[in-house]
Amino acid sequence: MRRLLTRRPMSGYGVETKALNRAIRRNIERFQEDFMLKLTRPEYTGILRCQIGTLRHGGHSKVVLLWGRSGAKYPTISSEMFTDDTLKKIAREILKGYALEPRGIHGVAHWGRVMDNGLRLAEFTGANARVVQLFALFHDSRRLNDDHDPLHGARGAELAAAMNGGLFTLASTDLELLRYACTRHTEGLTEGDATVRTCWDADRLDLPRVSVFPKPARLCTAPAREKDFIAQAAARSEADFHTALAQAIIDSLE
Ligand SMILES: [Fe+2]
Repeated sequence: MRRLLTRRPMSGYGVETKALNRAIRRNIERFQEDFMLKLTRPEYTGILRCQIGTLRHGGHSKVVLLWGRSGAKYPTISSEMFTDDTLKKIAREILKGYALEPRGIHGVAHWGRVMDNGLRLAEFTGANARVVQLFALFHDSRRLNDDHDPLHGARGAELAAAMNGGLFTLASTDLELLRYACTRHTEGLTEGDATVRTCWDADRLDLPRVSVFPKPARLCTAPAREKDFIAQAAARSEADFHTALAQAIIDSLE
């Protein structure tokens, strides 16, 4: 996990930011290239305003949590993933029959954060990255309302099965994982295949957008239960953060 530090002492770490920065400068060769980044003041201000404003407190930020730069964030699974181009095509096809507002609470920005959460988890859980990506796009894709719609997951699963072999092709065992993950994703289950559990956690970690904060016991993978992971996902969720992919899909609709 990577963090960006605040001007305030880092609570819980017992060290002041300036002392930590000094120690890093003295030992810079010991840190990997992507271990940290230094923001300019406009970038810092922009992040506070746009991404994690909800973490602000009394005019100052608390600990500012980031997951690092945008770009290649999934070092061990990127070769298994669908490309953004393929995902955009799939999303646009899904949206042709989407009954709700694409910018709504179960829409494209949510799909993007679920995908990002899931891929970050997949780095640790061994989940099938392609299933995780498709879960993000399909699980809420056939909602008929933003409230109680208990069969929407099953409808999303059926759509995925119907589209398999077109813009994407999953092996039958992987398709079954995807269908199961979509169909059962609202039932609060915590047991199952690692790929399925990763999908469910990816979705639950984005609940803070509707003021629901997942308790670790309700999550089903070890990395998702980490306090930092929950906090970082929550910051993006509350701020309605748009991943680059989600923004590109939305832009393509206009
Ligand atoms: Fe969802």
